[in-house]
Amino acid sequence: MQTPVIAPSILSADFARLGEEVDNVLAAGADWVHFDVMDNHYVPNLTIGPLVCEALRRHGVTAPIDVHLMVEPVDRLVPDFAKAGASLISFHPEASKHVHRTIQLIKAEGCRAGLVLNPATPLDVLDHVLDELDLVLLMSVNPGFGGQAFIPSALDKLRRVRERIDASGRSIRLEIDGGVKPDNIGEIAAAGADTFVAGSAIFGKPDYAAVIAQMRAEIAK
Ligand code: DX5
Ligand code: ZN
Repeated sequence: MQTPVIAPSILSADFARLGEEVDNVLAAGADWVHFDVMDNHYVPNLTIGPLVCEALRRHGVTAPIDVHLMVEPVDRLVPDFAKAGASLISFHPEASKHVHRTIQLIKAEGCRAGLVLNPATPLDVLDHVLDELDLVLLMSVNPGFGGQAFIPSALDKLRRVRERIDASGRSIRLEIDGGVKPDNIGEIAAAGADTFVAGSAIFGKPDYAAVIAQMRAEIAK
C-alpha cells in the first residue's frame, strides 16, 4: 500500500478565514488540500473556482491541491485550474464527452489526473483508461454536499477497484470521498483506500490535529 494521504475537504472549512483554515489543517498533519468545485449544473450546489485556488497558492500554501471537479463540461476549466496551482485534477466521466481526451489534457497541463466514480457508476468506465490515471476517486456519497453518511456498498467497490489497480502494476492512488470519519476509516483502509478525503469529520471538530492523529492510528491498525 502507498503511504496514506489525508486530504481534508475545505468545503467544510470556514470560508471567511480560508487561508488560516488551510494553514491550520496542514499544520495539524494533513497531507493534501481537497478542493471541491461545484457548478450548480452537474451537481445542485455552487462552490469555488480557480480564483480561490490561486489565492491559496498566493497565500503560501505549498501542499498538493487536490481539485475535485463536479462541473460539466470539464475541459474548459482544466487549464485555468492548472494555472491556478492545482496539483491533481479529478473529474466525473459523465461530465466529459471524451474521457480519454480530458485525461490527456489534464496531464498536458502538468497536473496528475484522476477519474471519479459516483456510487452508481460501474467500474467499466476504468476499462480503457486505468493505465492513464494517477488516481481513482471513489465517491462514498452522492456528490454535491458535505456532511452526508457513508454509503456502505462503497466498501465492496473499493475492494474491486483495489484489485484492478494491483493487477495493473501501476502506482495509482485510490481515494475515497464522502462520510469518512475516525470510526469507519479503519475498514475503509482495509478495503483498499490509500487516500482519504474528510470534510465535516475534521473541520467540524475544534482540534484538527487530534482527529487527523486518530484517523492515522485507525488506518495503521
Ligand atoms: C461531496 C464532496 C466531498 C465532501 C466530503 O460532493 O466531494 O469532498 O466535501 O465531505 P464529508 O467528509 O463531510 O462527507
Ligand atoms: Zn470531493
